Amino acid sequence: MIQIGIIGLGAIGQRLINRFTEHKEVKIIAVCDHVESLAIKTAEEIGDVQAYTDYKQLLEDEKIDMVYVAVPPKFHHTIVLDVIGSGKHVLCEKPLANSLDEAEEMLKAAQEANIIHAMNFPLNYEQAATKFADLIKQQYVGKLRRLKLTMQFPEWPRQWQKNEWVGGREQGGFVLEVGVHFIQQILKIFGDIKNIETRLELPEDPSKCETGIIGTAELEDGTPVLIEGLSQIAGNEYIGFTAYGTEGVLTLDNWGILKGGKNGEELQDIPFTAVPEKSLLDELVKAIKGEAAEIYDFEIGYKAQAILEKLREN
Ligand SMILES: NC(=O)c1ccc[n+]([C@@H]2O[C@H](COP(=O)([O-])OP(=O)(O)OC[C@H]3O[C@@H](n4cnc5c(N)ncnc54)[C@H](O)[C@@H]3O)[C@@H](O)[C@H]2O)c1
Repeated sequence: MIQIGIIGLGAIGQRLINRFTEHKEVKIIAVCDHVESLAIKTAEEIGDVQAYTDYKQLLEDEKIDMVYVAVPPKFHHTIVLDVIGSGKHVLCEKPLANSLDEAEEMLKAAQEANIIHAMNFPLNYEQAATKFADLIKQQYVGKLRRLKLTMQFPEWPRQWQKNEWVGGREQGGFVLEVGVHFIQQILKIFGDIKNIETRLELPEDPSKCETGIIGTAELEDGTPVLIEGLSQIAGNEYIGFTAYGTEGVLTLDNWGILKGGKNGEELQDIPFTAVPEKSLLDELVKAIKGEAAEIYDFEIGYKAQAILEKLREN
């Protein structure tokens, strides 16, 4: 049984707790949040779990094999470096850090310590996104002509994530929060991104995050990449990740709807339920046991950070 400690019990920390408690080979034995009532309540809900408000005390527990860090981005650096220093494996929330310098230090420390370092990039374990990647490899769209990421939020921060920091310029904004998932997908499926140029729409209040972006970039072979988004608009939330090719179009809509068509035809839903199911936790367990595993580690987190930093440059 792999023993888990969790630091940060907010929106996403709670979401993953359910996955951990359902998994047969892992057990949460400690939780930490500097909001004491939240730490105690969460520990009671899970049952048989130690609650902490100081993460350094959690790290002193030698029974803990892996720590999941789910605090806001600006605290990843300090906490993750301490986790690495304690010799435990680490699962870090995205984005890896709050700056490229921080991300570089975390990557180096993780590589030097003999530990598993993983990021929570859930799209990699979803069937629709996996099928998207498979179809691209099978040349479904032919030769790629353009990649496009569209992000539209009637309201940012969204209802389920109404935290101060998510709407702030320092560590929030949809480019960082949502864009990072697709930048990681681009790096994985299509390779490096270069020549990034960006035009942000920023509110007058310097503490508030972007409300719009038009970013352009290129893949290594010069294929254009368009990253565009707006918040505070009419209509529904929409996130579309689309590959346009010489033979067809493939699009991943709202994380889990896959549509495609050959050029000149209508886009149609593409079934993906035959794709074998995967889970981050299964892969983490394999990695910790020393088996081959599909893990997205700090290296891809660092690469994504470099791109995010350029996209968010004003
Ligand atoms: N992978 C995903 O799909 C996904 C989705 C949403 C958010 N996230 C990421 O997860 C992280 C957390 O996001 P969230 O929405 O849950 O934030 P949140 O603000 O809801 O929760 C963060 C929690 O961390 C606690 N915290 C902060 N500093 C702490 C410290 N030093 N010690 C102990 N506890 C501390 C806060 O009290 C809060 O309860 C962010 O990095 C975010 O980008 C990932």
